[in-house]
Amino acid sequence: MSGTARFPYEPWTVTEDGFQNAYLRESESVFALGNGLIGMRGNLEELDASGSESIQGTYLNGVFDSEPIVYGESAYGYAKNHETICSVMDAKSLFIEADGETLDLGLCRVEAHRRVLDMRAGLLRRSFVWHTESGCALRVETERLVSLTRQELAATRLHIACESGACTLRLMSFIAPAVIAQGDPNDPRNAAGKDRSLRIGALSAEGTLLRMQQKTKRSGFTINCAAEQRCSFPYASSVTGERAEFTAELTLNPGETLTFERSICYTATAADEPDRWEETAALARSAPAFDALCAEQRACLDAFWDRAGIDIEGDDALLQGLRFNLFHLFQSVGRDGRRNIAAKGLTGEGYEGHTFWDTEAYILPVFVYTEPTLARRLLEYRYAILPRARERARIMGHSRGALYAWRTIDGEECSAYFPAGTAQYHINGDVAHAVREYWQATEDLDFMARCGAEILVETARLYADLGFFSAEKGGRFVLNCVTGPDEYNVMVNNNVYTNRVAEENLRSAAEALALLRARCPEDYARLCRELAIAPDEAESWLVAADRMYYPPSRDGIFPQDDGFLDRKPWPLASIPPENHPLLMHYHGLVIYRHMICKQADLILALTQYGERYTLEEKKKNFAFYDSVTTHDSSLSMAVFSILANEIGEYETAYDYFMSSARLDLDDMHRNTKDGLHMANMAGTFNCVTRGFGGMRVRDGALHFAPVCPPQWQGYAFRVCFRGRVIEVRVRADGASYALLRGEAITVFSDGEALELK
Ligand code: BGC
Repeated sequence: MSGTARFPYEPWTVTEDGFQNAYLRESESVFALGNGLIGMRGNLEELDASGSESIQGTYLNGVFDSEPIVYGESAYGYAKNHETICSVMDAKSLFIEADGETLDLGLCRVEAHRRVLDMRAGLLRRSFVWHTESGCALRVETERLVSLTRQELAATRLHIACESGACTLRLMSFIAPAVIAQGDPNDPRNAAGKDRSLRIGALSAEGTLLRMQQKTKRSGFTINCAAEQRCSFPYASSVTGERAEFTAELTLNPGETLTFERSICYTATAADEPDRWEETAALARSAPAFDALCAEQRACLDAFWDRAGIDIEGDDALLQGLRFNLFHLFQSVGRDGRRNIAAKGLTGEGYEGHTFWDTEAYILPVFVYTEPTLARRLLEYRYAILPRARERARIMGHSRGALYAWRTIDGEECSAYFPAGTAQYHINGDVAHAVREYWQATEDLDFMARCGAEILVETARLYADLGFFSAEKGGRFVLNCVTGPDEYNVMVNNNVYTNRVAEENLRSAAEALALLRARCPEDYARLCRELAIAPDEAESWLVAADRMYYPPSRDGIFPQDDGFLDRKPWPLASIPPENHPLLMHYHGLVIYRHMICKQADLILALTQYGERYTLEEKKKNFAFYDSVTTHDSSLSMAVFSILANEIGEYETAYDYFMSSARLDLDDMHRNTKDGLHMANMAGTFNCVTRGFGGMRVRDGALHFAPVCPPQWQGYAFRVCFRGRVIEVRVRADGASYALLRGEAITVFSDGEALELK
């Protein structure tokens, strides 16, 4: 690990010593807190250090505003609306003045500035000593948490201790509309140029209680925020302009400490739900004191780390990276079946807060094996938006089935660039694959009966409708004009990955119906009735699956799609490093004409459907695709690492893993400021379990094929599987397996059956 990292390598914390204005926005993402509903960027309390370009942000998962997409040339079926995550009112900031001097890191004399993200406590702590112009030394400490046990609650605490010289302090706590940051207008990956301000519906300051209501302009959301202040000093509160303020002025003498706590409650309701203005206030008022919230937070995280235990002996940098990744995933994932996880979680506004296939292909496996209940919630979200996916399928000319939106918040397709958006029909297969993966690891029949089977049927129907038996291809079932995961090759025929997930989807749908018929006949009958499933329909899916077309290999190389090997070569070495990502430096058409990939695509197919390929095929294709892939997407390297391990390219596996494990901590893609890369974060967990641990599920059983990189003394991880928690420990001289919870189970290590009791 290079010595250039900004944060010292610590196993459970991320510490920033000193204050670097130039890195402010990145650290705001790194120090973000969240609980699946509320997300707060790690902004400094005093809003912005003078002259800095902070990205202020408090987000509510699933809450967005919409705006018509304006096309220069529109056409039938284009996505109609943008959905953009809102930066809601700010209630975490403070204004502090000592003897008339305003706290501002850019202007004041501040020493020993430190911020610590504590991943076991679920707290962001900050401390520094402020030497005021009036000659006073004040030790300032702040703590912030977003409660993991109380969805609508966050809290802050402030201590100011006077170390020398008396001073008059003025403290102001407030609720104010968010300051909207303007993103880079040239970067298609953020929400620059959209009108993202919210209307104020109500505003009040009554004693210790501040309140604000905001409304989105078009999407019909009402957001309420109430902040209850707790202190033992005199105060006043008022409404000034667009702000509800709570102010206090007091003298602090040497040895005295001021303590100030604030409970912050956010609620959001959609247009058809009753408003919660009064309830929001009551929730803030009745919130437990800060210490009590800390205790709950700790207990919740103890339980999480107990299930998601991961350890690497001999590399604190990687261990920190992995835990950081898991921590942020846990903070960002929606918990109620109506909210998903955005590509940047709740840490920033990149990709406008949209959910992509990232959830199913990368993130869901993390929860399947650590927090299966949350995995179910993610799939329930897909079930909840199934009606929107049906509508989309009709617009796209399919008489049956459902087509999930490529990018969305509430289910509506929001991709304004269909070649690398709507055309990614693999999204259906990704969702179906996730249903299957969840089922294999949990055997949750209730989920299958209520939601899973219906998702599988509707997604399968779409592929059945999209494809046809092509005479040109010897009567094989082909899927034309789609975009695979690799966004540098668009609207291609027979993208291997898409055909693989579609084939699996068609089979899974037939299997799910057979399962329900055998085990839940009433649900089976209801589904057949509601979805008008014809008696021979499942059979027709199996025929299409059996005859699915895959472009034949040329000299052992599988083309990623029918035409891939006919595109013009573009040697990676000839591309100047500063021209990455290519999408920011070349017209799409230039990219699409070349034999070059943005991200893992065929390699993902080889990893996910490994049983369909020989080791030799994997080796040969790995070498080839490694030479034509730019990894311009952060979703790429983790997948390459997993396959590299499988084929025994251990050094390469390790290098790719290294490049993804600390991608955000070290800002390797230079856009951490817009939010953390959730799919990559999940990919690193998958690298440990599936890559180094060689974990696969085959015929309902867990198989491992562990290797220990020579750089580590050993490593360990835990997985939940069918009601058990299993710990895998790997060292250079072998692996050991322990059953931590649940009934005896047989697992396989390098093919050998082991009974765990
Ligand atoms: C990748 C997609 C991904 C999206 C959101 C893009 O850069 O190419 O695969 O879904 O980012 O993370």
